[in-house]
Amino acid sequence: MTEKIPILDLKEQTRNLQAEVLEAFQCVLADAAFIRGPEVSKFETEFARYIGVNHAIGVGNGTDALVLALRALDIGPGDEVITTTFSFIASAECISLVGATPVFVDIDPVTFTIDVAKLEALITPRTRAVIAVHLYGQPADILAIKRITDSHELSLIEDCAQATGATYDGRRIGSFGDFGCFSFFPSKTLGAFGDGGAVTTPHAAMADRVRWIGDHGSRVRYTHEMLGTNSRLDSLQAAVLRVKLRHLETWNERRRQIAARYSHALEKAGVITPTDAPYGPSRHVYHQYTVRLPQCRDAIRDHLAANGITSVVYYPISLHLQPVYETLGYGRGAFPVAELAQEEVLSLPMFPELTDTQVDRIATLCAERFRELVPASPPATGVALASEGAIGSTEELVGLEEEALQAG
Ligand SMILES: Cc1ncc(COP(=O)(O)O)c(C=O)c1O
Repeated sequence: MTEKIPILDLKEQTRNLQAEVLEAFQCVLADAAFIRGPEVSKFETEFARYIGVNHAIGVGNGTDALVLALRALDIGPGDEVITTTFSFIASAECISLVGATPVFVDIDPVTFTIDVAKLEALITPRTRAVIAVHLYGQPADILAIKRITDSHELSLIEDCAQATGATYDGRRIGSFGDFGCFSFFPSKTLGAFGDGGAVTTPHAAMADRVRWIGDHGSRVRYTHEMLGTNSRLDSLQAAVLRVKLRHLETWNERRRQIAARYSHALEKAGVITPTDAPYGPSRHVYHQYTVRLPQCRDAIRDHLAANGITSVVYYPISLHLQPVYETLGYGRGAFPVAELAQEEVLSLPMFPELTDTQVDRIATLCAERFRELVPASPPATGVALASEGAIGSTEELVGLEEEALQAG
């Protein structure tokens, strides 16, 4: 029988951690402090140290982390916040939830993160902040973005939901902006046993505000100075996260090994593979291993599915084309690089417990089908192509695809 390989399987990791987690749960049960207990404070201290920032605040989930950061900055109606159009909905939803307007920017075709060259032109007198998303585990060019936000006196929020542990210039992402916003949704590189999130910040006053807004706008018990909400990390999740944080570097290293193994096989077939971005330099942690498959993405996804392998398109619809954002009036053609990416990206199974045999089987199936569909495609990684000047713009990328198609 063909072995089925899911996009993500947490069962083995959870089994391996069971003894450590149960021991940690005993401490929580002994304290019976289920909300903001000692486990939460310890996790906050350890996580802040891990990220390399002064403050970390545990919150309910990654979406709340973004909303709380925007609220701490008093961003609201009449304000604009710039973010990428190629991300999970939460990266823009948070802006709308505080009553501000999302302003989208196109992406770089190689890293799938904000195209820094297109950022500055979008700044208006209403712009208050930029949300940079470290997508798939790949750091955005955060220092280049920071230079722009600093020069315009804008706040910088890092959406780190998909990239806990990734580094840029030797520093962990989440330590560059005014805020780093993390999700501990179970599938993430650092995932809880349910929902969870954290906000990191170098600013003591901002850390207080996040904590205060997430606790019903109350600094003094039963005195509510502003409208807040209830968004707190609970002690059981903090206990799980403390255990998992100890393994994160090993898991992220294994993700990188898996990515290298995939790329070794796929590049020989000419597939455009992900790699560390040249800026920073950066360390990708492969929350997703996402390839570009011009003109043949769906055929390859179907071929993998027919062989029991799940692959997923993150994301089939860019944010500016989402029905919920129709009223912003962008329409098709507004962001050609993201619109092309949504037709071509495919994420292959990725979790630290994947075996080399499984990786080889997936890569072989993918490479063989790609060769059948696009026999003459040039062997190179996306970054290699870009640095050689082969992919410098969407036009060039489209040209490359057309060449491959003609050859096929
Ligand atoms: C880029 C990005 N931002 C924010 C979030 C929101 O995190 P959460 O699901 O914990 O609310 C996610 C979750 O998938 C995400 O991928």
